[in-house]
This record gives sequence, structure tokens and C-alpha cells, in this order.
Amino acid sequence: MSKQFDVVVIGGGPGGYIAAIRASQLGFQVACIDEWKNAEGGPAPGGTCTNVGCIPSKALLQSSEHFDHANHHFADHGISAKDVKMDVAKMLGRKDTVVKQNNDGILYLFKKNKITFFHGRGTFVKAAEGGFEVKVTGKAEESIVGKQVIIATGSNARALPGAPFDEINILSNDGALRIGSVPKKLALIGSGVIGLEMGSVWRRLGADVTILEGLPTFLGAVDEQIAKEAKKAFDKQGLKIELGVKVGEITNSKKGVSLAYTNAKGEAQTLDADKLIVSIGRVPNTIGLGAEAIGLQLDERGAIVVDGDCKTNVPGVWAVGDVVRGPMLAHKAEEEGVAVAERIAGQHGHVNFNTIPWVIYTSPEIAWVGRTEQQLKADGVAYKAGTFPFLANGRARALGDTTGMVKFLADATTDEILGVHIVGPMASELISEAVVAMEFKASAEDIARICHAHPSLSEATKEAALAVDKRTLNF
Ligand code: FAD
Ligand code: NAI
Repeated sequence: MSKQFDVVVIGGGPGGYIAAIRASQLGFQVACIDEWKNAEGGPAPGGTCTNVGCIPSKALLQSSEHFDHANHHFADHGISAKDVKMDVAKMLGRKDTVVKQNNDGILYLFKKNKITFFHGRGTFVKAAEGGFEVKVTGKAEESIVGKQVIIATGSNARALPGAPFDEINILSNDGALRIGSVPKKLALIGSGVIGLEMGSVWRRLGADVTILEGLPTFLGAVDEQIAKEAKKAFDKQGLKIELGVKVGEITNSKKGVSLAYTNAKGEAQTLDADKLIVSIGRVPNTIGLGAEAIGLQLDERGAIVVDGDCKTNVPGVWAVGDVVRGPMLAHKAEEEGVAVAERIAGQHGHVNFNTIPWVIYTSPEIAWVGRTEQQLKADGVAYKAGTFPFLANGRARALGDTTGMVKFLADATTDEILGVHIVGPMASELISEAVVAMEFKASAEDIARICHAHPSLSEATKEAALAVDKRTLNF
């Protein structure tokens, strides 16, 4: 007789493991199935985010930033650091340790919350009496039944046609996070989030980095003024970004990778590199899920079709995170996981798609929430804008990092905050205040009237809110 559960979660990334924890908190008997293996073949829950995404990329960004500071910024503080060397193997080892701490943390959370964890692949067998039968294929094979099933199977890197990932020369995010020595020449295709973060890591370590981007605009989803400021900073750092290119044939040989492309002027070019990272977006992952066994509807991209509540076309089956529509972000996956568990419990789980923050962890960091100035123009919304540069912020000067600004966009009539955009130091942390403000439908004046600690970067947020009403105090 198959083991029975109230809720079976397929996938143990941020969408899945968080859904499992919330469902358990709500009193359900919960199982979570995840197939990710560590180097020893053991379980490594946490999904893309923990194993080859958010966490390891931030570990490498931190290490490479320390290296960059030691080489270029310590001297300003009177610290001499000659012959600074990077031990790449040690850096990668530290990153692996950080990943393992997170894997172990999730295994501990499964135990703490009395969630039954299965290490293996979950495949739908059929709609069974009282729910759905799911086969788990791991070291052994067994079948379990869930009254309700939450699918959180994530996404995989998209490859360029004719240039499959070999993870030696042509790298996805996985290979990009474990390059064993600093490549002399590194090429990237796609100047989106991964392209900029990974390009930054290896540039700081000394690689000659070129990013080829198909679109003519840089970071089209970002507020234009913020994207322009960020581009200026990246140019200054020596990160070469070519926009409006058309990538042609890619030749992969023992010597490296040769890329034929046409530039924005239509001229034929060749780029030779030791390694190529392809970061052109990700595709939803339903490989081996057995979607057809229960008649689960997928769209033309392979994403599971869901409604606003993450319900699929099969009653009792839900899907969250990268495998469904919406931004491919860990915190979006988590929020959907929590909301679905609450809906199963008859509660009113809710995800506000208008207040999901975005962060690009480059230096300067880029973070935003809400609409951009170009979106407000396109939507015909009357708005007021206010900006404040970090150059005029005391804490930023003390830190020695005055790049960038905070920008507020507020409704011209009601003063409600419609968007906040930041490029500069610790933008990833500063954006939270804006998310809270927007969630509570605050006005720019609300933020302008709140006492912010001095000296702090958050004073730039207050000042940008004041700027909406043209009354900055320090600029
Ligand atoms: P995933 O994290 O992909 O997890 C899915 C899990 O399901 C995996 O463990 C997979 O093995 C498992 N699985 C799949 N099919 C089955 C099956 N049939 N049976 C059992 N298990 C299965 N987002 C951010 O918000 N911030 C960041 O800083 C950030 N950085 C990133 C950096 C990189 C390099 C990349 C690639 C992504 C980054 N992301 C970031 C995006 C983030 O990783 C994803 O949005 C997030 O992981 C999605 O969570 P998920 O639970 O939907 O899927
Ligand atoms: P992306 O969507 O951010 O960027 C892809 C870029 O590649 C785009 O600029 C696109 O125009 C370009 N492109 C697509 N096809 C191309 C082609 N054939 N030739 C040249 N350029 C081409 O995708 P990316 O960087 O792969 O990241 C995937 C997702 O992972 C992100 O969208 C994000 O959701 C998530 N992520 C989030 C991070 C964060 O939150 N800090 C960090 C890294 C990834």
C-alpha cells in the first residue's frame, strides 16, 4: 500500500521547500520530493537557487568584490596590499561550503517541520483514489499518494541552437559558477541578470570580459535613467557590453570558443574566447514529471498553465515558481508556495505581483520595485519624479562608494508611490523600505516624513522622497 500524504510537493527549491514548510505548519502531513544530488550523490535540496543560482553566485560576487577592493580601493583607506592573489580553488571551495550549509539547513528544516523527504525524481503515475499517485525514483523506487500535489520543478538554462552546453567551454550558470581558473578571455551571450553578475565576478578576477546582447537597449526592463547610470559604471570598470548584435556560428574546439556575429552596424565580427557563458534566459522544467499521465496542461514554452491562484487545469494539482508564468525569482517562488499552502487550507493566500522587488547584485547594485518611468509614460499615468544621488549622502562618502542614486516615482495627484529605482551601494537592502511602503500604499511624503538614521544610505531614500516635492535638504 502506497504511503499517503495530505500534500506532496515535487521539487525542493525555494518554491517547493517553503510550500512544504507552510503546509506542515498548517497541520498537513507533507512529503517533499527533490532529485538534486551533491558531488557525493547525496541529497542537496534548495534547487537552482541554492545549488547553482542565488547563493553560489552571491558567494562568488562577495569573494571577487573583496579581491577588487584589495586591489583598487584599500589604498584610499591607507591600507597597502601589494601582490594580492586570488586562490580560485579556495574561493570555489568556500562557495561550495556556503551551498552545503544551505542544503543542510533545508534538510534540518524538513526534520523540524516533520516533512517526509524523498530523494529522487517524482513522476505522476495516475490520478488515484483520494488524490494522485506519484512514483519516486531514487536509490529505490516507491509510490506515494498525495491528496493535493504542488509542483515546483523550476527551470533550466536555455541553450543557443547549435551550441549545446558542454560545461567545459560553453557554460550554463552551472559551469559559470565553477570555472577552475580565471580565463584570459571570457565571452558571454546575454547582458541580463546572469550575464552582468557572472561577467562582473570574472572581470574582477582579471578576465577580459565581453558580453554580446541581442537587444539594442541595455537592461530594457530597468528604469532608463537607472540603466544608463549602471552602464556608465560598468563601462568604467572595463566590462565590455555590445548591444544589438546578432550571434551567428559558434565553433567549440580544444583551444576555446570562436563566435561569429554581426554588430549593431551590421558588420561581421569574430570573438575568440577561452570560455563562453550563455545567459539568454531559462526554460520551465517539466522533464520526467509525467505531466501527460494526469492530463496537465503546459503552454508553448513548456510552462505549466496556472490561474492567478496557481491552480492548474487538474483540480488538486498546483504549480509555483519558475515552472509557471511570472518573474523567475526565488522570492516570487516562495511567496507562491506559501500562498498555495494557505489556499489548500482554505485560507486566502495572496501574492502581490506589483510589489515583487528585483535586484541585480553587481557593483553598483541595481534594485527596483513597481513601475519604471518609461512604463508610466506608456501607461499614460501622470507622475512626479524625485532623485537623490549617493554623492550627497554622508554614509556613502564614508564608505567610499558614491555611485548612483535613489529615484522615486509618485502619482501626480495622490502622491502614492508607483515605483522606486536604485542604483548604488546596498541597493539590495535599501529596496525593502520601498516594498513595504508600496505594500501599504504609502505616499512619497510618508517616506519623506519618517525619521531615518544618520548617517545611513537609507537617508538617500528619504531625500529622494523629498525630491518628489522638490525639497531635498542635502542636495
Ligand atoms: P528551482 O530552484 O529550480 O528548484 C526546482 C527543484 O526541483 C530542483 O531541485 C530540481 O532538481 C527539482 N526537480 C525538478 N523536477 C523534479 C522531479 N520531477 N522530481 C523531483 N525533483 C525535481 N533569484 C533571486 O531571487 N535572486 C537571485 O539572486 C538569483 N540569482 C540567480 C543566479 C543564477 C545564476 C540563476 C541561474 C538563478 C538565480 N535566481 C535568483 C533565480 C532563482 O534561482 C529561481 O527563480 C528559483 O530557484 C526558482 O525556484 P523554484 O523552486 O521554482 O525552482
Ligand atoms: P535574462 O532574461 O535576465 O537575460 C537574458 C538576456 O539575453 C536578455 O537581455 C536578452 O535580450 C538576451 N538574449 C536572449 N537571446 C539572445 C541571443 N540569441 N543573442 C543575444 N542576446 C540574447 O536571463 P538570464 O540572465 O539568463 O537569467 C535568467 C533568469 O534568472 C533571470 O531572468 C532572473 O529571473 C533569474 N536570475 C535572477 C538573479 C537575481 O535576482 N539577482 C540573478 C540571476 C538570474
